[in-house]
Amino acid sequence: MLQTIIENGLSMKWDTKLYDSNHGFVSKYGADLIDLLDPKEGELILDLGAGTGDLAGLISQQGAKVIGLDNSMEMVQSAREKYPHIRFDHKHAHDFSYDRPFDAVFSNATLHWVLDYEKAIACICNALKPKGRFVAEFGGKGNVSCIINALKDALCRRGYSETADQRVWYFPSLSEYTSLLEQNGFRVVFAAHFDRETQLADDNGIKNWLQMFGQYYLQNLPRETIQDIVNDVEEQVRETNFKNGQWYADYVRLRIAAVKE
Ligand code: BEZ
Repeated sequence: MLQTIIENGLSMKWDTKLYDSNHGFVSKYGADLIDLLDPKEGELILDLGAGTGDLAGLISQQGAKVIGLDNSMEMVQSAREKYPHIRFDHKHAHDFSYDRPFDAVFSNATLHWVLDYEKAIACICNALKPKGRFVAEFGGKGNVSCIINALKDALCRRGYSETADQRVWYFPSLSEYTSLLEQNGFRVVFAAHFDRETQLADDNGIKNWLQMFGQYYLQNLPRETIQDIVNDVEEQVRETNFKNGQWYADYVRLRIAAVKE
């Protein structure tokens, strides 16, 4: 069942249980990003786009004090229930500020949702102490291009070209994003742009992915059309995204570590 969008812009109503059960790989892959963050005992760390809180939970286990932020109230509520000792705030990544400066800002699988990316970079920079760290991973140039191209093609063939042309995600190249960071007060100390094919949960992997993450494209269409499009996309990407009996999303990640100058 598709979820409905409750606000303008990129704010969706998330089914947090489905997110944790079918899309748990989001946090699983984020766990090794914590190694790059290298949180220290007593540090104050912001988890930007904390989702259901699992990575904030892991960071706090390492002795840091964590504040999680997410623009979805459903995610914030779920995170508060799972990790009552951690503070989770309902705020936007492109419009936030805190009284106390952070030692580090950490962000996993969030920044591709933030179309106001320059404002987000400015907020992150303002939130950090001098020499504070920004460690992030999100979709880079080419991310999920097989799935998105198939989805756009299926929409256009049914007369929904305006829907197909919407700008939903920001998948920058490495040079674009590192330049933006440099122009906005950061020194980039690590950057990588790499493929990470990601195994999806079950036989309905692509369909579930589209229903969870493709909401912006599908939300206003009749139910039968949605089913038809989802089936069409699945058939189109079978050759590229189905291997040895498993569905994969063709994720391409941008991983960054930068220091506030
Ligand atoms: C990602 O994690 O790369 C992603 C997730 C949902 C939609 C688009 C990209």
